[in-house]
Amino acid sequence: MFFQHIEGLSGLVAAALFIFGLKRMSSPVTALSGIVIAGVGMVIAVAASFLVLADLPDAARPNLLTNLALAILALGIGGGCAWWNGRKVAVTAMPQMVALYNGMGGGAAAAVAAAGLLTVATAGPLLMSVTIAGALIGSISLTGSIIAWAKLDGRIDKPWRFGGQRVLNAVVFLVAIALGVLIVLLPDGGLSTAVIALLFFAFSLAFGVLMTLPIGGADMPVVISLYNAFTGLAVALEGYALQNPALMIAGMVVGSAGTMLTVLMAKAMNRSLANVLFSNFGEIAATGPSDIAGSMKPADAGDAAIAMRYASRVVIVPGYGLAVAQAQQKLYELVKLLQAADVDVKFAIHPVAGRMPGHMNVLLAEAGVPYDIIFDMEDVNDAFATTDVALVIGANDVVNPAARTDKASPIYGMPILDVDHAHQVYVVKRGQGKGYAGVENVLFYGDNCNMVYGDAQAVITRMVQAIKELGG
Ligand code: TAP
Repeated sequence: MFFQHIEGLSGLVAAALFIFGLKRMSSPVTALSGIVIAGVGMVIAVAASFLVLADLPDAARPNLLTNLALAILALGIGGGCAWWNGRKVAVTAMPQMVALYNGMGGGAAAAVAAAGLLTVATAGPLLMSVTIAGALIGSISLTGSIIAWAKLDGRIDKPWRFGGQRVLNAVVFLVAIALGVLIVLLPDGGLSTAVIALLFFAFSLAFGVLMTLPIGGADMPVVISLYNAFTGLAVALEGYALQNPALMIAGMVVGSAGTMLTVLMAKAMNRSLANVLFSNFGEIAATGPSDIAGSMKPADAGDAAIAMRYASRVVIVPGYGLAVAQAQQKLYELVKLLQAADVDVKFAIHPVAGRMPGHMNVLLAEAGVPYDIIFDMEDVNDAFATTDVALVIGANDVVNPAARTDKASPIYGMPILDVDHAHQVYVVKRGQGKGYAGVENVLFYGDNCNMVYGDAQAVITRMVQAIKELGG
């Protein structure tokens, strides 16, 4: 009994640390400590769950050592793989890694539910229903996240669509729910329950695959965030079934954070969640209008650098291409040279620049760019009107003025960085490649815009060289 009290108290402490850690993750300045604090909470929660073993009834003791050894082995393998993966993953591959880990969370919740189904049968329909709900959501999150990973990693490179797909998906989902209801209504614990449970898991897992296959690869970050919310919910439900407060609170925190992130991402793209899940966005957008007046005017990297060197204010807009080129270190070298020449340099960050939330903040933090020159869209947009040079590096959709003016554009209504208000704009990109939305960018044809073609790493290296050659 004593150990159960300690376990309950530790759950509360762990939950408080999760919430406090999450709060600190909301700013790049405090994010690292937030991660450490939440990690300490997780260690406490895991350690505390072992304490309950001390209060086990005598009947359960014979298996104690074996179970303990298995749990420690699993923790060792899981922790070791995560540590190794986390160290070697490239920033551009981070969304894939998040997808996989998130899927494992959902799978773990479903596995706990599967084990629980063997024991909660005696616990009444409420606990059974909660367990089944967690199993359904966790299973969908597991297989959905694996498909999302495969799409982001380029292992599945086309959306799979066919006539009647939505009807098939709906049927599979309804069958899974019907089987779940059957398990609750007929909990005899015998062979028939086991067969129904197997079918229930098969249909739930299949639904995760079927739901994710038709969604375009580029929409996967939003989908992963949605599955993240699912995983949180599944964990919270299983926490309730196991009467484990730390699991319940951690699950609810993850579930609500995932839901908010999904909504914010969809809002920043001016799209509804239904549109992300069912619209085939990339394909529709690619057929959008491309009859824009004017032409794209190439410029030399050295000339652009000199213009920046003699400017009063330069605002840099990083985008997905910066992450592809891994040019963040070189970019910061350029910034330091400009600052040394008394140029006021700011970074402007769009909320969905790149391919995952906070993508650009992570890149810039990696290069050591100080936080006080990095500004969110709403804080920096007014500054473009008084900016001499806006340098757009590997960004496209997030600076497309069509979002403000062209009602026919698929990105119409998406808030953008008002780069076109700057006196002079230089856009660094490799060629005529479109952005994620697949639409032409009106900005590139503007009178005040020049294109500096090339890989961002090579272009910025030339810019740094040009400024160095100018001397003090
Ligand atoms: P994008 O619109 O995707 O444009 C990236 C541009 O970078 C491309 O036009 C490409 O042109 C250029 N590029 C690629 N590799 C390059 C390299 N090595 N060097 C230089 N340029 C390179 O990027 P964005 O402006 O960051 O916008 C993000 C898009 O992703 C938005 O539409 C957003 O809605 C979507 N999205 C974002 C998220 C999150 S959470 N961030 C989630 C889902 C979707 P070239 O091929 O000509 O070089």
